[in-house]
Amino acid sequence: MLIHSASQLVTLAGGPRRGADMNRLEIIADGAMLMEAGRIAAVGESAALLARYPRAERLDARGRVVMPGLVDPHTHLVWAGDRAAEFEMRLQGKSYMEIMAAGGGIAATVRATRQASRDELLAQTRQRARRMLAHGTTTVEAKTGYGLDLASELAQLEVLLALDEEGPLEIAPTFMGAHAVAPEFNGDAQAFTDHICAVMLPAVRDWWQQNAAARALPFVDVFSEKGVFDLEQTRQILLAARALGFPLKLHVDEFENIGAASLAAELGAVSADHLVKTSPRDIEALARSDTVAVSLPCTPFGLGQHEYTPAQQIIAAGGMLALATDLNPGPAWCENMQFVLALACRAMRLTPAEALCAATINAAAAVRRDGLVGSLEAGKQADALVLQSGDFRDLAYRFGVNQVQTVIKKGEVVYN
Ligand code: NIG
Ligand code: FE
Repeated sequence: MLIHSASQLVTLAGGPRRGADMNRLEIIADGAMLMEAGRIAAVGESAALLARYPRAERLDARGRVVMPGLVDPHTHLVWAGDRAAEFEMRLQGKSYMEIMAAGGGIAATVRATRQASRDELLAQTRQRARRMLAHGTTTVEAKTGYGLDLASELAQLEVLLALDEEGPLEIAPTFMGAHAVAPEFNGDAQAFTDHICAVMLPAVRDWWQQNAAARALPFVDVFSEKGVFDLEQTRQILLAARALGFPLKLHVDEFENIGAASLAAELGAVSADHLVKTSPRDIEALARSDTVAVSLPCTPFGLGQHEYTPAQQIIAAGGMLALATDLNPGPAWCENMQFVLALACRAMRLTPAEALCAATINAAAAVRRDGLVGSLEAGKQADALVLQSGDFRDLAYRFGVNQVQTVIKKGEVVYN
């Protein structure tokens, strides 16, 4: 299929970007793209491609933007139930960490998720995956972490692999047994840390080799935060995971700075995520590393807070910034990356171009798939969106409705 006559073909060609380079989108006016067997075969000006491929099936994108499918590199996609009651408690003044300390928050979702049957969990998760796709997300990272015992964590990995298999949304899975201290450990974070390192991580690796051997190992992620896993426990889990071959991610600086962003950079984590209380020293450490800085503005927004990632400083220091929803049943039930772009430009003063880069090629780097998705370049997977308008800035400028007209995954129209 040949998509042609796009008023802007936003390619994002040339790999992930750092610093001011994030503004470089590589737009082809009156652009065209040929797709063959799920891959991008050619990208260029319409006149040239229409002449070169006269017999290809055509899709006219006149007056429209064509861009890479959005990549959402941080979600907690798989859970059962909801926490609407906690939302009301927070509006009445209870903080997220207070609710968590009182047995709500993540623990409440753990109870609901453990009780759900596999089919129920799959059905609820599938609905969210469909909404993500309908809003233009074609690749998503998804974490376990609402099981906290081996069997229920593995059940969540199974659901994620089953959904990935089903398609069309492509899922990069993450094992996040260290999302909170399991109820069986009665708040003993050190004992649970030791258990994760000695029992869970090796078991997850064995399970993976038996059930998903053809795929790269999942990421391992830790909620590194005062009152959850401290810096030394985080280091212990990440070192154990790294020794087993897992690539690393980390939740850092969401509520308090305990130095976890610098630890992520030091240990070569693929990404460090949240980054609200991040210090100038942490920013320097991230900028000097290959660790992608993933900002999750829906979380402060969802908590009614006014402090966001110091994105300007991260970009000024030469960091690689990405954006994600943090989709979860607590602060951020949002399947829509378009809203994240709109919010990022207002709350963190990103330019629309920086936000778009952060949600495509840089987001792909945050899940180690930038060689495959995140830009429109010959040889890459044909994951693309046709927007309803002809100006990419509309994706950040307008908000609250779906601006995606057509979603293409691996060369097939999957939403229209
Ligand atoms: O990234 N901070 C930890 N995990 C999620 C929230 C999960 C939940 O509240 O259920 C986050 O914000
Ligand atoms: Fe998260």
